[in-house]
Amino acid sequence: MNKEDIIYEGKAKYLLKTDKDDEVIVYFKDDATAFNGVKKDNIESKGILNNKITTIIFNYLIKNGIKTHYLKTLNDREQLCKKVTIVPLEFICRNIAAGSMAKRLGVEEGKELTRPIREISYKCDELNDPLLNDDHAIALGIVKEDDLMYCYDQMLKINDLLIKLFDRINLILVDFKIEFGYTKDNELVLCDEFSPDNCRLWDKDTKQKLDKDVFRRDLGNIIDTYSEILNRLEKLGDL
Ligand code: TMP
Ligand code: ASP
Repeated sequence: MNKEDIIYEGKAKYLLKTDKDDEVIVYFKDDATAFNGVKKDNIESKGILNNKITTIIFNYLIKNGIKTHYLKTLNDREQLCKKVTIVPLEFICRNIAAGSMAKRLGVEEGKELTRPIREISYKCDELNDPLLNDDHAIALGIVKEDDLMYCYDQMLKINDLLIKLFDRINLILVDFKIEFGYTKDNELVLCDEFSPDNCRLWDKDTKQKLDKDVFRRDLGNIIDTYSEILNRLEKLGDL
């Protein structure tokens, strides 16, 4: 990776320029942060694991009709992707009460929900990514109504596909956060990553947490945890 090629530095990734103006390289760093960067660490090889896990998940979603920014994995840390203009919303889908929702509503972590919950928060570090509702997002001009509905629809499709996938490896998909962006041709596609950094996965039998909560809550070793997810996915072979 060439430092001069960095277009943008995020908390866990760099975006690097390529010689095509509609493509970028996503570089997975080893940095781990939580609570909007208040807790920080550098965990050797985390980026490699997240690149591998995202590669498997994005290829599976693409095979199942989900449009994404992903083009190909270049090496241990880099993916070639379509350049996108990101929708400044975090799309969160919850199947089981956990994390901030459990805390905010005083609900016990692990409570089954009668249907998936769709949440959005405004991507703004200074404001701590505040939760907002559809009217806020539309009336403030953050997203067009049709596009918001399309993203929700895609998110629920992704949820169905991933619940099934993780079930095959004895994992419960508790919740996840995804992002969408517009390509040069104005197509709305899934972007960013899908890894244990942006979802909660619990072992079906033991309910052990196998995701970034291990880092957030000091529950153990991140590399062992993420390797466990990768090993289970790799055992499935071609998806
Ligand atoms: P939360 O319960 O802390 O709101 O998190 C909901 C889901 O979103 C969980 O799977 C973790 C993920 N997430 C991110 O990917 N990035 C974030 O900045 C936050 C707060 C959560
Ligand atoms: N990614 C967020 C941060 O770094 C928070 C989180 O994942 O808990 O602050």
